[in-house]
Amino acid sequence: MLVRLIYASKVRDGLAPGDIDHILARSQANNARVGVTGALCYTGGVFLQCLEGGRREVNEVYHRIVGDTRHRDPAILGFTEVTARDFADWAMGYVGYTADNRALFLKYCPRPEFDPYTMSTASVEALLHELLGVARWKTARTERPSS
Ligand SMILES: Cc1cc2nc3c(=O)[nH]c(=O)nc-3n(C[C@H](O)[C@H](O)[C@H](O)COP(=O)(O)O)c2cc1C
Repeated sequence: MLVRLIYASKVRDGLAPGDIDHILARSQANNARVGVTGALCYTGGVFLQCLEGGRREVNEVYHRIVGDTRHRDPAILGFTEVTARDFADWAMGYVGYTADNRALFLKYCPRPEFDPYTMSTASVEALLHELLGVARWKTARTERPSS
């Protein structure tokens, strides 16, 4: 059974240079091994992450992630059974906030700043869908697509 879990969390002490790259590198290695795919967004001190895969594997990865001291206040925004993956190409894709996608981050958000905690499951899913289409994704620092 395939499931999709979406959660938000807050960065604990700010990110050190290289933290995101390190998280992505570990995510890509670990997730690929257990068939988990997904996407990680980070902006304004807030993470939004989508994990897709087998129910047991997604649960295991999520529980490891929530124990990570680099973030706090995790909140599951959606946990649904799905028939297909949205992010089949990414063991863990990444999108940051850029001038290009700024409007998109706010499009589904009831507040003037990006705050996934206030968004419905449908809205975070729609946001992730749109980001998938327009954002510049990277799979790892060394594989960053040229702009
Ligand atoms: C916001 C955030 C998202 C993360 N996402 C993942 C992930 O998708 N997969 C993963 O294996 N680790 C992820 N991590 C890292 C884990 O918390 C943990 O550090 C890592 O899995 C340890 O892997 P290692 O024992 O192979 O070094 C994430 C960490 C943070 C802070």
